Amino acid sequence: MGPRAIVTGAAGLIGRYLVRTAPRWAPDLEVQGLSRAKLELTETLKMEARIRALKPDLLIHCAALSRINACEQDPDLARRINVEATVHLAHLCNEIPFVFLSSGEVFDGARGWYREGDEANPVNFYGKTKLEAEQRVLQNPRHTVVRIVLTAGTSRNGDRSFVEDMCRTAKAGKNVTLYVDEFRCPLPAVVIARAIWELARCERPGLYHLGGSERLSRWEMGQALLPWYPELEGRLERGSAQNHTGAPRPADLSLRCDKLQGLLSFRIPGFCEWLARRSQRGRDLWDYASP
Ligand SMILES: NC(=O)c1ccc[n+]([C@@H]2O[C@H](COP(=O)([O-])OP(=O)(O)OC[C@H]3O[C@@H](n4cnc5c(N)ncnc54)[C@H](OP(=O)(O)O)[C@@H]3O)[C@@H](O)[C@H]2O)c1
Repeated sequence: MGPRAIVTGAAGLIGRYLVRTAPRWAPDLEVQGLSRAKLELTETLKMEARIRALKPDLLIHCAALSRINACEQDPDLARRINVEATVHLAHLCNEIPFVFLSSGEVFDGARGWYREGDEANPVNFYGKTKLEAEQRVLQNPRHTVVRIVLTAGTSRNGDRSFVEDMCRTAKAGKNVTLYVDEFRCPLPAVVIARAIWELARCERPGLYHLGGSERLSRWEMGQALLPWYPELEGRLERGSAQNHTGAPRPADLSLRCDKLQGLLSFRIPGFCEWLARRSQRGRDLWDYASP
């Protein structure tokens, strides 16, 4: 048996890709994915017992209350899961590398193209929980935080990625409003998984940004996806974040990723560039094969 890695949130969007791509990107590791059924973050004692029994050599922490609105609606639960459970897990992993998936939502989005050293200023509760957890995790010099932004891919129940959200809305016969003035740097989950495996293996802890090299508005993302999703045809409508209701959303969360790029064996692509390459290969759009 090789060293053992645990992935929490293994039934979630990114955790699932991490587990499924491990044979390719971390073949020497024995990777164990823990879904909520196997590791409930709010059951502290059981969580402790499970981690101690498994004796991991690396833990990648993906489990979270990851929906912005859910965090706004239940801030106590959001804090328990995103901050307290994360801090507790990090503590249990005191002696080993621990990789925590955070979010660009720690920024207010007023400027865009953020670097790791830029001042964080979250505008919603989700971002606040992520920032607090980051700061606590990074107190341990062996630990790593990766801020990601918008992730494309397929999930077990088809209800996790932004692409799935758009398609579900369209299939329900509703229009999908896409803001022309809200910007992100999306990446497919398969690319995120490869980058995280490479980072986790190179023993360079610290804070990293991981986003696509193209900054796109929500509207531009919809246009880029149209050729693959006929159900979106005629359903996309332009909107403005000025009219947004609900939890506050940062306008521009594009991230500079030079620090991480310097450690990776591949170039982090832009979203449209990645889609164009994919069409040439004629594969399933979001499969688990090489990004
Ligand atoms: N996807 C993105 O665009 C994005 C962007 C920025 C940051 N992130 C961060 O990246 C990480 C992974 O994101 P993701 O997209 O894979 O999220 P996800 O699909 O929502 O997966 C999170 C997983 O955590 C599990 N979970 C929630 N509460 C739990 C609890 N109390 N105990 C145990 N497990 C629990 C969920 O279980 P259930 O399946 O039962 O709900 C889910 O499987 C998260 O930290 C997220 O905040 C994601």
